[in-house]
Amino acid sequence: MTVVVSDRVAAKREVRRIKNLPTVPGIVAKISRLVENPETSAAEVGRLITQDQVLSAKVLRMANSAFFGMSRKISSIASALMILGFDVVKGLVLTSSVFDMIQKSMAGLWEHSIGCAAASGAVATALGRDDAEEILVAGLLHDLGKVVLALNMQEEMALIRGKVEREGLLFYEAENAILDFHHGEIGQWLAEHWNLPESLAEPMRLHHNPERAVVYPECTAIVHLSDIIIRGWGFGYAGDPLVPPISMAAWEMLKLKPSDFGSILDLLEPKLANLSELTRQSG
Ligand SMILES: [Fe+2]
Ligand SMILES: [Fe+2]
Repeated sequence: MTVVVSDRVAAKREVRRIKNLPTVPGIVAKISRLVENPETSAAEVGRLITQDQVLSAKVLRMANSAFFGMSRKISSIASALMILGFDVVKGLVLTSSVFDMIQKSMAGLWEHSIGCAAASGAVATALGRDDAEEILVAGLLHDLGKVVLALNMQEEMALIRGKVEREGLLFYEAENAILDFHHGEIGQWLAEHWNLPESLAEPMRLHHNPERAVVYPECTAIVHLSDIIIRGWGFGYAGDPLVPPISMAAWEMLKLKPSDFGSILDLLEPKLANLSELTRQSG
């Protein structure tokens, strides 16, 4: 008989119990501690990341990818820190640390994640925001809760997938029906556990309910919209083949005009065409 984790406390315990998750981003926790100290220099943080050569190669590959469209190559972690800033590099370290897990978890989820990241960057740029890189990282990590489900709660995952297929539900609707919560909440627990900033935690939690965001409502609305844009584009796979409606609250908050979509899609198209190299990251 299948025993399904059906209440939040048990599920939260399940997430905390997962052995490989907390250790993987250990370097992220170290970086956070270093960055909290005002005396810390970029060189020190750079040295810490560079100790792990595989990780720093992955971070540099992402820093030089179509995401950021840099005119000059970023050749060291130190210059990535100077050009992109601590928060973005930290997000890239985290993403690179969990890259293999995202790839193993669900076919198409990595592509969906980088697509949503590129779309988040494009929407933020079209809105004239100067924190487009940070919002891009929130897009990259928004569905991390699904990784936990796929890798560590396989029985529940099978039930959710079955419900999506049989009833034509969105993935998060099927999660709500089976678990009484969805991957956004799991993402929030991960974010707490890993001490991620609220600018990442809130969009991870509320990208399907952006009207509930209070601390970073615009960032959450941008990730919400970008998730829908990339689903509509058909880039990657988020667990169901559907394109959900855009939240009215998010739409009104962003004050986007239908004509802005032209510039968003113009920004996005070349990035998506060039992001394929990131789907082949390995080792
Ligand atoms: Fe999601
Ligand atoms: Fe998503």
